[in-house]
Amino acid sequence: MPPISLNRRAILALGGALVLFLMLSGAITNHVRPDIVRNHIPDSWKSTSKLPPPQQDPLLEPPKEEPPHENPNQEEIFPLAKAGKIPKINPKNIVKDNNLKTPLLIGFTRNWYLLEQAVVSYLAAGWPSSELIVIDNSGVMDSNLRGLLTPKNPWYLNHTRLTQLGVSVKRTPTLLSFAQLQNFFINYAIEQDWDYYFWSHMDVVVISNEWEEEENYKGLYEKAVDVLRKTLDERRNWALKLFAYDWLTLVNVEAMKDVGAWDTQIPYYMTDCDMYARLAMRNWTQDSVDAGFVYDVASHLKDLAVLFPDEGHESELNTTRFNDLKKKLQFMMEEKQKNTGGRNYWQARQDGGKGEPFWRNPKGFERGINFWIDKGRELFRLKWNYSDCDLVQKGYKYGEEWTRE
Ligand SMILES: *[C@@H]1O[C@H](CO)[C@@H](O)[C@H](O)[C@H]1NC(C)=O
Ligand SMILES: *[C@@H]1O[C@H](CO)[C@@H](O)[C@H](O)[C@H]1NC(C)=O
Ligand SMILES: *[C@@H]1O[C@H](CO)[C@@H](O)[C@H](O)[C@H]1NC(C)=O
Ligand SMILES: *[C@@H]1O[C@H](CO)[C@@H](O)[C@H](O)[C@H]1NC(C)=O
Repeated sequence: MPPISLNRRAILALGGALVLFLMLSGAITNHVRPDIVRNHIPDSWKSTSKLPPPQQDPLLEPPKEEPPHENPNQEEIFPLAKAGKIPKINPKNIVKDNNLKTPLLIGFTRNWYLLEQAVVSYLAAGWPSSELIVIDNSGVMDSNLRGLLTPKNPWYLNHTRLTQLGVSVKRTPTLLSFAQLQNFFINYAIEQDWDYYFWSHMDVVVISNEWEEEENYKGLYEKAVDVLRKTLDERRNWALKLFAYDWLTLVNVEAMKDVGAWDTQIPYYMTDCDMYARLAMRNWTQDSVDAGFVYDVASHLKDLAVLFPDEGHESELNTTRFNDLKKKLQFMMEEKQKNTGGRNYWQARQDGGKGEPFWRNPKGFERGINFWIDKGRELFRLKWNYSDCDLVQKGYKYGEEWTRE
């Protein structure tokens, strides 16, 4: 699946200082940055710059030893799970006495390794496995469930592993575009009778903020629950709570319904601009919030065990392991952003599996997606008679779409 968060133009809408900051930090590359509509960025974002904390770290020297992540032929990145010995998480990350539901949906189209890494990082940060749902949008019907694909196939996903981790899998009926997948999330929430849900990109790694003073420490999951509780208590007109752009997002189902959900005729880029602008036009808020470190990566760690505390030292915080891991993730994020092949090159790297059920030529798949990305931009322009994300600032009003030619 192409990136879910999108668009360099959109970030320009964030305003000069922020853009300058991002440029300096190397964060604007290629064509992709997540976005927010400027008028509806809360003051707290503007003044304290609630950017993803990792981006505020200085650029790092590449690690001197071997690269932190995979070799291309590596097929097992979590040997402990394979051996049936999933490590224990830090007990401080476990939230007791929470009566709020916290469903977290993670959409999957390509690259099992990144997906597994994201899922395992949420588990290690305390997210209960029973609340994690992988939305299998690989478009290979029941082939993954039946174990018919091999790990070199881009659409391979190991159902058994997810089940072993306690994570459930829900399949989309066929391959959906980004906008369709978002609407699938909304519809799924309606079916489940959820008023809200979390969704996350699959190309992220989360870790709790162990840099906090120990007495104030809360794991990433606990902080996310705090944000949720506060949001529900405030009873405001909220649409989205954005943890590090939209890499992790809390969504209000009522707001999604109010604006008629995502426009599936704009399948990828610009569909976020369209959606977030329509929400803003209806006065639904989109605030940025914080729960810990979220990294946007295109590669995976060699062994996911490093996301867990060492055996026998489970409740220690801010260990050498943690600080090394944090550095690695920071490096991996910078590497993704600098990569000349594009931030999304990871999506085209697994290229085996020819002849397996529903196999598609990965390069062709990529080209096809790029085609629809372009068409989506074109449609956005037709819809608004305007081609940028700052619709709200430019005075466009709700209901004015398709009224100008
Ligand atoms: C999928 O995961 C299961 C459970 O961890 C493991 O036994 C199996 O070897 C994995 N399959 C592949 C092809 O790696
Ligand atoms: C955590 O570890 C880092 C690196 O060792 C250190 O700079 C920092 O002061 C520590 N923070 C706390 C709260 O212990
Ligand atoms: C949104 O807020 C503005 C300013 O308070 C108000 O004029 C407008 O009517 C509101 N729009 C909607 C759809 O509620
Ligand atoms: C559409 O956009 C063009 C170019 O900005 C502008 O000249 C034209 O007036 C717009 N049409 C309407 C109906 O607003």
